[in-house]
Amino acid sequence: MIRICTILLSFLIITSCRNDENINNKAEEENKKSESLTLYTHRHYDSDKMIFKKFEEQTGIKINVVKANADELIQKMELEADQSPADLLITVDAGRLVRAKNKNLLQAANSELLSKVVPQHLKDSENYWYGLTKRARVIVYSKEKVNPEELTTYEDLINEKWRNKLLIRSSNNIYNQSLMASIISNNGKDSAKLWANGIVKNFARSPKGNDRDQVKAILAGEGEIGIINTYYLGKLLNSKDSSEIAAGESVGVFFPNQNDRGTHINISGIGVAKHSLNKDNAVKFIEYLVTKEVQEVFAKANYEYPVNPEAITSDLLKSWGEFKEDKLSLTKLGELNKEAVIIFDEVKWL
Ligand SMILES: [Fe+2]
Repeated sequence: MIRICTILLSFLIITSCRNDENINNKAEEENKKSESLTLYTHRHYDSDKMIFKKFEEQTGIKINVVKANADELIQKMELEADQSPADLLITVDAGRLVRAKNKNLLQAANSELLSKVVPQHLKDSENYWYGLTKRARVIVYSKEKVNPEELTTYEDLINEKWRNKLLIRSSNNIYNQSLMASIISNNGKDSAKLWANGIVKNFARSPKGNDRDQVKAILAGEGEIGIINTYYLGKLLNSKDSSEIAAGESVGVFFPNQNDRGTHINISGIGVAKHSLNKDNAVKFIEYLVTKEVQEVFAKANYEYPVNPEAITSDLLKSWGEFKEDKLSLTKLGELNKEAVIIFDEVKWL
């Protein structure tokens, strides 16, 4: 009899523990599933804050922002696994979105509106991520020393006439890795290596600094042409520091490869986190970010190009003129990232 009682008691304890566990899990899930969205973002612009606040006012859905660089955020999501509070991930390069998808950190987010608004080459083929803004990686040139008629393509930058005149940041930067990936995709691996080698030969100095520093170096006479993302020129021209404005004013913008594939572009983009329990609201948020109004704020505040073709670009961007963009699927940039890094190492592009 005692034995039967013991068995019965154990059974009751185990069942009750299991129930507690279920209740706890449910509570945790309910916590995660709420009228708020947790956004892991690499973007660090004041305009974003304003945009998020407006969304909160319109929908009552609160946006909790976790800021860090994209590699840190991706690592965080990996470590957190199914316990991750992240609903959305924003990065500033397509290569990283591809990486996040490959690491199984995102989920498909299908939306009629998004498939209509975001052009095909600016989103994942399975809707794991969408571009929010575009940036063009252009050639800037000294207005004083360079006749823009001498400029044509990225490929022509290895021409001997640019020996010791070319400024570009280091190869560990993802913008350069994505540009390199686009060259591999368009011209093949061997030709891309020859190109990288030629670029190294034409360096005005060993790569250092960010994109803005390349423009400053042109004004300082260290080189005559540089490769930078367009919005950095916008930042210089709108700086509070007069020396930065002077640097920005000393260069012209040239969009390469207009007679063939077009200028290399990249995006900042967004995807829904794999373990988000708030997918409907997350998609609603992405849909909001690609509306004409929000896209115009994005474009104006950070000197980027909207992905929504109906949105109007800022006067500054208009002043640089319209350009043909390389419509290479951005997924390719992520796929070819490793090969790009290998070529950089081989040609000793620091
Ligand atoms: Fe940037």
